[in-house]
Amino acid sequence: MLDIRDLTLSITGEAGHIDILRDVSLSVARGEALGLVGESGSGKSMTLRCLLRIEPPGSTVGGVITLDGADVLALGGEPLRRMRASSVAMIAQNPHAVLNPVAPIRRYLQEGMRDAQGLSVTAARVRAAELLERVGLDDVDRVLNSYPHELSGGMLQRVVIAGAIAGQPKLLLADEPTTALDVTTQAEVMAILDDCRRELGMALLFVTHDLDLAGAVCDRIAVMKDGEIVETGVPDQLRDNPAHAYTRQLMDSRPAGITGTPDAAVPGETPDEKEQ
Ligand SMILES: Nc1ncnc2c1ncn2[C@@H]1O[C@H](COP(=O)(O)OP(=O)(O)O)[C@@H](O)[C@H]1O
Ligand SMILES: [Mg+2]
Repeated sequence: MLDIRDLTLSITGEAGHIDILRDVSLSVARGEALGLVGESGSGKSMTLRCLLRIEPPGSTVGGVITLDGADVLALGGEPLRRMRASSVAMIAQNPHAVLNPVAPIRRYLQEGMRDAQGLSVTAARVRAAELLERVGLDDVDRVLNSYPHELSGGMLQRVVIAGAIAGQPKLLLADEPTTALDVTTQAEVMAILDDCRRELGMALLFVTHDLDLAGAVCDRIAVMKDGEIVETGVPDQLRDNPAHAYTRQLMDSRPAGITGTPDAAVPGETPDEKEQ
């Protein structure tokens, strides 16, 4: 489904030339969930940005990304737009960043579906209501007519998930989709996401700093540090027998409530800090 080989990303800007990603290789099979786990600044979001071709200005990208048979780094214009509209869907950390604050929720869902699937206004409205029910929202007519500020973060993230699964993409990208939510809501939203993607047979590339959370919903996990993948394995193996010291550090830094061990900071610098 997705194959990333030796992906490199460097950015040239006021701070000089910074290597952000170094030879990142990972793959996601059809219907598989892969966790991309690492501390903040390790390059997880940049990997997703390369995949969607939305890397920052001044970027140079190398390597090969193959998505559903397409050579992503060679795509441009209409083929790239089609790939973004049909093969993948992204669920970001902050739903407010994707929802228009001055438009009701129905506009977000219906316009997305009318663009991508050519549905009539009525058909899009019916489908939007179905999708909101699918992601566990009640009183869907009220939700459809609400503005983003009238709904909780958990409800908004469900709306974004509904929008993401609407076009039945083959691959869902989720970048820390529950980090901004309270703990109970996090679990609910993660369960909905997991449930929807299994039911619909979608692959998932799940970015998180939380190894336990990734272990709970992913078939395999790739551990990232300073722009490199240091280890890839199944959750049990990473937990019980990590090959890389950094994976062990990530586990030891988990909150005491989960692991019974005290918090330990994960040492390490982000690539741009090294530059300074
Ligand atoms: N627009 C940018 N220009 C230059 N460097 C950036 C930019 N955005 C992020 N970075 C740097 O790229 C590195 C990886 O960032 P990111 O992929 O966002 O990390 P993560 O998602 O793992 O927290 C970090 O060192 C970050 O400071
Ligand atoms: Mg990030």
